[in-house]
Amino acid sequence: MHWTKSIARCAIALSLGAAALSGGGQTTPVQATTQPVASISASAQNWWKNAVIYEIYPRSFQDSNGDGIGDLNGITKRLDYLKDLGVDAIWLTPCYPSPQVDFGYDISDYKNIDPQYGTLADFDRLVAEARKRNIRVLMDMVMNHTSDQHKWFLESRSSRTSPYRDWYMWHDGKGETATDKGEVPNNWQSDFGHSAWEWDEKTRQYYYHKFYIQQPDVNWDNPKIHAAFKDIIRFWLKRGVGGFRFDAITTLFEDPNLTDEDVLKDKDGKPYLNAYGDIALNDTRTNNLPRNHEVMQEMRAWTDTFGSNAFPGSRVLIGETYVPNIADLAAEYGTAEKPEFQLPMDTQVAFINKLDVAQFRARLADVETQIGDHTPLLLFDNHDNPRLDARYGDGVHDTDIQRALSTVLFASRGAALFYYGDEIGMKTTPPTRKEDVKDPIGVIGWPKEKGRDGERTPMQWDATAHAGFTAAGATPWLPVPPSAASINVEAEKSDPNSLLAWYQSLIRLKKANPAFAQGNDTMLDTANTKVLSWMRQAPGAPVVVVSVNFTAEPQTVYLSVPGSGGKTKTLLKTPGAPDPAWLGQFQLGPYGVYIGEVE
Ligand code: BGC
Repeated sequence: MHWTKSIARCAIALSLGAAALSGGGQTTPVQATTQPVASISASAQNWWKNAVIYEIYPRSFQDSNGDGIGDLNGITKRLDYLKDLGVDAIWLTPCYPSPQVDFGYDISDYKNIDPQYGTLADFDRLVAEARKRNIRVLMDMVMNHTSDQHKWFLESRSSRTSPYRDWYMWHDGKGETATDKGEVPNNWQSDFGHSAWEWDEKTRQYYYHKFYIQQPDVNWDNPKIHAAFKDIIRFWLKRGVGGFRFDAITTLFEDPNLTDEDVLKDKDGKPYLNAYGDIALNDTRTNNLPRNHEVMQEMRAWTDTFGSNAFPGSRVLIGETYVPNIADLAAEYGTAEKPEFQLPMDTQVAFINKLDVAQFRARLADVETQIGDHTPLLLFDNHDNPRLDARYGDGVHDTDIQRALSTVLFASRGAALFYYGDEIGMKTTPPTRKEDVKDPIGVIGWPKEKGRDGERTPMQWDATAHAGFTAAGATPWLPVPPSAASINVEAEKSDPNSLLAWYQSLIRLKKANPAFAQGNDTMLDTANTKVLSWMRQAPGAPVVVVSVNFTAEPQTVYLSVPGSGGKTKTLLKTPGAPDPAWLGQFQLGPYGVYIGEVE
């Protein structure tokens, strides 16, 4: 599979309250650490509009205690590195207590830290240390499902009359009798392979799981689920987090009639099998249903209620929004009366997966023109997809290609999100033997689907044993790729031509240059099929032009900015790119980049 497709996801007010099973003390009103949002300055409110956000997979970033697994204290130790890089916020993939079936996305307690990663005190220290460096910490909020080991689910599956029964999605089998479980309720499939229904022998019903069997979907028709997640959100807001990334957010609701999904057909009109050997389905009955919006409106209104003395500024809500088109992406922002995400991820641009100038131009123009005044969130990478080298590289010019793509990321309007290790050019390194696979989808789908280990290998800090990720004598949870010998932070820090240096320069420009910080985007040289060019324009600031050659051959660019004299000053360029004194026609080498200010 891989997420370039889509991640595809159900009231009785009984006496037991949300707080009773969710960890204690949660019904206290928000106090001391919060202040009304209205008293926060406009610039602090809008910190996220030009933000640089760094995704950390805590398991793989930095181990501080020699057990081969990254942890929160490891992240704290590396905050200076992130500050130097110019990062405004870090998004931590889940580090809550979890059986780790889906490496944290199966949460068994939403109000604590998994001992593998540290303690709540370590978390508080991380937030405080990050704050000293002006870095916000964003948490991952998984509201589609819990772990099957969560107290809610253990209660729910204990009997059909449990007050928690209706917190999950239980259904009878088709043709079920007292002695026969019947057939699964319909043809719905898990995104991780095979039926999305799991039989529970004790209570003799099926439960629904969009992801692993150990990740039962919660029932968003139940008001208690709404209350429980609001309580969890408040818990973390009170600890000073800068916001959340909402996981699998398009999958909260399913068709209540349980209608079968349609079967997908190949170009000859025949059904075909997916990587798991299942008949491929179109998941329109379990993904991207309109009611997801109601939940996000509710969560946004709730979050907006809380300011923070600990870190003034509005909290940002980021969405994992794999949606099929720009209109659906625009809808994820909500309306002026009912806002939803500030930053839904633009997966339209991220997963073009081909250096096709026309497609990039069209999708970047879409996000410039079809989302109103909202802020795009561009990205190219995350923990669910092969890294950039595997999706955009050619094996020869990978670093140059990453320079080109990072230019699109940081020199376009909006917030920019990137994944740990992108800044040094870490390479996708999937397991070569099934017995080495850690991500269960790699086991279910081997060999077609090797799982996501390849993009989750340890961060490459230096050329010492285990790349500085963990102690020399320890065994890292995933092997360190051989490429760490040359691709590592230490080596790139001292090389002015490294990818790391390029990232740093781009991020500095993004922050310091007024057209980059505030300007809109307009495409230039639009008939060119080899070079992507655009300009950034902000009131009262010089226009900035950007050209990126998407090919391995030299290409000619023609740039002109209406109303300008055309005199230019180079701000940043790749080695060998021209240094033109005037706009007009010039040549750009293979994957060359030119950024210049126009008088
Ligand atoms: C996360 C995945 C996770 C899935 C189920 C996703 O979208 O990014 O890593 O396996 O949700 O929680």
